[in-house]
Amino acid sequence: MAIQSLLLGVVALAGSAIAAPAAAITTATPTPTLTNAQVHAPAITADVAAGVVDKRAAACTFSGSNGYASASKSQAACATIVLKNVAVPSGTTLDLSKLKKNTHVIFEGTTTWGYKEWAGPLLQIKGTGITVTGASGAVLDAGGSKYWDTKGSNGGKKKPKFFAARLKSSSINNLHIKNTPVQAVSINSCDDLTITGMTIDNSAGDSGNRGHNTDGFDIGRSNNIIIDGAKVYNQDDCVAVNSGTHITFKNGLCSGGHGLSIGSVGGRDDNVVDTVTFSNNQVTKSTNAIRVKATMNTTGKINKVTYSDLTMSNISKYGILIEQNYKGGDLKGKATSGLPITGLTLSNIKGKGAVSSSGHNSVITCGSSSSCSGWKWSGVNVTGGKKYGSCTNVPGVAFCT
Ligand SMILES: *[C@@H]1O[C@H](CO)[C@@H](O)[C@H](O)[C@H]1NC(C)=O
Ligand SMILES: *[C@@H]1O[C@H](CO)[C@@H](O)[C@H](O)[C@H]1NC(C)=O
Ligand SMILES: *[C@@H]1O[C@H](CO)[C@@H](O)[C@H](O)[C@H]1NC(C)=O
Repeated sequence: MAIQSLLLGVVALAGSAIAAPAAAITTATPTPTLTNAQVHAPAITADVAAGVVDKRAAACTFSGSNGYASASKSQAACATIVLKNVAVPSGTTLDLSKLKKNTHVIFEGTTTWGYKEWAGPLLQIKGTGITVTGASGAVLDAGGSKYWDTKGSNGGKKKPKFFAARLKSSSINNLHIKNTPVQAVSINSCDDLTITGMTIDNSAGDSGNRGHNTDGFDIGRSNNIIIDGAKVYNQDDCVAVNSGTHITFKNGLCSGGHGLSIGSVGGRDDNVVDTVTFSNNQVTKSTNAIRVKATMNTTGKINKVTYSDLTMSNISKYGILIEQNYKGGDLKGKATSGLPITGLTLSNIKGKGAVSSSGHNSVITCGSSSSCSGWKWSGVNVTGGKKYGSCTNVPGVAFCT
């Protein structure tokens, strides 16, 4: 019987991957004798079929104006999906939310989206074991200049968010994104996701300050995220971590925006940020470089955030801003203690002459001495700005200048 022998072959090949109940199968006995019941045991067949004998087509290429629809429709049938010069119609999500485990998605050429005022997202990718790759020269152009009206998500034209990543045990490599109407990449409910070599270029939105709220990476409710070697040219946070644990942003460049931010944290369903590392990054032409925002009068925690080996230049407002009185804007009213900032480490922060003379080098507003504790600062050298007069409860290792 064809199916049965196929499954036997599969089981033999993948013996080492099969755990417990099928005790008879071990790597040492490559051709086990299986009963019918074992052959049809769903745990064996389902797990193994995906990895070894893949009934999906090897590679499917979708292109042009019908590409998005065919890709969405056939996504579960292809092991590799190539999106080549796909033109997504207006008001449509390029929807890859039903990918099977271990699918490879490759963008080639230029991907475009038609104009419509709506919420988006323009791109959604969901799954486990997914690899997303931008081929050499590939660009995802979201057409932001038609939307940019200086108002961002605060009014004016309704602007679609760009990319909702909902990925587990996955990677995204060398994706080049440009001209997002508002926020670029939303990493929400992701686990074990590595993003390497991503470019988000909204620099065309600088002229006339038309681009606004074009956050690079917004991260929430996600764990074990690594973003390595990203280049972000935008007009809002380069990275904003609102909740999540074990998040690393390294070897990156942030230009034109609001810098590397934690928060604002507080007032959402999940208000815990734990173990976030920003290492070996450059922040330039930005309003802030380092910013940790705890929303006033809320609860939660910000623990073990580290900024190391950071170089900042051309910072207009705050080189370093750590606040427990964020309220829809920086430094509003009196700092509170319900959302402690603990274990904040700054090491080797280079910013000599980096802050504009109208800005401030380092501003800290803590609700109490215990709500900002366990900090370690070393080699922090940020100058150029003026002293801020209203710092509160500044920990001994830190300074307000
Ligand atoms: C500093 O950054 C601003 C944008 O924030 C830019 O307009 C200006 O040209 C930059 N100056 C230098 C010297 O790079
Ligand atoms: C913070 O909360 C306290 C107690 O609920 C309240 O009295 C106070 O007005 C709040 N402060 C602000 C600025 O909202
Ligand atoms: C910052 O750098 C300047 C010049 O290199 C040096 O004189 C100063 O002591 C440094 N400050 C700190 C706090 O490291």
